[in-house]
Amino acid sequence: MKILSIETSCDETALSIVEASGGSTKPKFKILANNVASQVKLHAKYGGVFPMMAKREHSKNLVPLFIKTLEEARLAKKSTTAFSQKQVTDLELMLDREPELKKIFLKTIYKIKKPNIDLIAVTTGPGLEPTLWVGINFARALATLWGIPVIGVNHMEGHIFSVFPKSNKETFTIDTKLFPSISLLVSGGHTELVYIKNWLHYDIIGQTRDDAVGEAFDKVARLLGLPYPGGPMISRLAKEARDKKIVSTFTFPRPMIHSKDYDFSFSGLKTAVLYFIQGHSSNPNGRKKIIIPLKLKREIARAFEDAAVHVLVSKTLRAIQTYKAKSLIVGGGVAANQEIRKVLSELSPVPIYFPTRELSTDNSLMIAIAGYMQWQKKKKGVQLNTLIANGNLTL
Ligand code: KG4
Ligand code: ZN
Repeated sequence: MKILSIETSCDETALSIVEASGGSTKPKFKILANNVASQVKLHAKYGGVFPMMAKREHSKNLVPLFIKTLEEARLAKKSTTAFSQKQVTDLELMLDREPELKKIFLKTIYKIKKPNIDLIAVTTGPGLEPTLWVGINFARALATLWGIPVIGVNHMEGHIFSVFPKSNKETFTIDTKLFPSISLLVSGGHTELVYIKNWLHYDIIGQTRDDAVGEAFDKVARLLGLPYPGGPMISRLAKEARDKKIVSTFTFPRPMIHSKDYDFSFSGLKTAVLYFIQGHSSNPNGRKKIIIPLKLKREIARAFEDAAVHVLVSKTLRAIQTYKAKSLIVGGGVAANQEIRKVLSELSPVPIYFPTRELSTDNSLMIAIAGYMQWQKKKKGVQLNTLIANGNLTL
């Protein structure tokens, strides 16, 4: 079956089309098109993601990106038939809360013949509700127009499935013998350890009690005067410190490393970095801007990354042991971090599944895979009026 997947949970507008087969026992996927329109540059100017600004960008980007995706998948056929009055009325109603998307949709989509697509998979949460709604309403509008089912997908489940596509390969399969597995999900909004007994059976055994680890990377980056998103920048500075063999003369705390549970806390670590910076930076002439020399920035980045990675790795290894896991699945934006990859690879007693770097951060390919697996279980779409955005959706 051909699946169109839509991801708009934060600041990436992402659309894919995959051909999926094999059911849940031998799932097999062929990527027909996979696109991401990133808003990172826009949000970098403001130091973070503003939901309503992100929503506007999704509204602008969705239709052009959809057409590009259809063309790449060779599914774009021209139509010259205008929408019927009933279609216009239905679409007007359905897109009532997305005026910008509605305008572009009504002007453009009638020019495309119903493509050979069997199912739409769309992210319904967790994430920013205004941006999730744009994707959901776009999915509902297309599904109504084409009379095809929609399945809602949990973004975090997507991150779990993101580990299967390989770099530069059009086709990929899913290893179905990796369970029970422990999954470490680390992103800008989440830090979770999940016990996966079998496909689609998730048990969150631990999570952050305050900031997510990606959020801590972003906040520490801001303290160092680095642009959003801070994770890649911190990790680059930390690597420079290691390459230059700069030995930090200080360390930061490892919050909750000895607690018996699998929970995390990163807010105190960020505060420790803040106090350290306040105590170690010069502020000539009482100017507001804090000046931190590059060498010290590198040391701080390294000491912070070491602390964060130490806690994550320590709890993950204990979970693997306690739950007798046969594998480890790492997903989410922070899975792109080289240090966490290195340390986990050195210490994990079981095989590790990492996403490629591109698929560590938000994408729609992972939503297509999760959508197909959910479809195998449910075999039917959701009623379109029950498809809702849930910013706090859990696994
Ligand atoms: O999964 P994702 O793209 O979006 C969410 O669902 O949150 O994750 C984004 C997060 C950001 O906080 C970003 O700073 C972090 O992932 N990130 C990294 C790295 N690359 C991205 N953190 C540490 N090291 C990296 N290399
Ligand atoms: Zn994500």
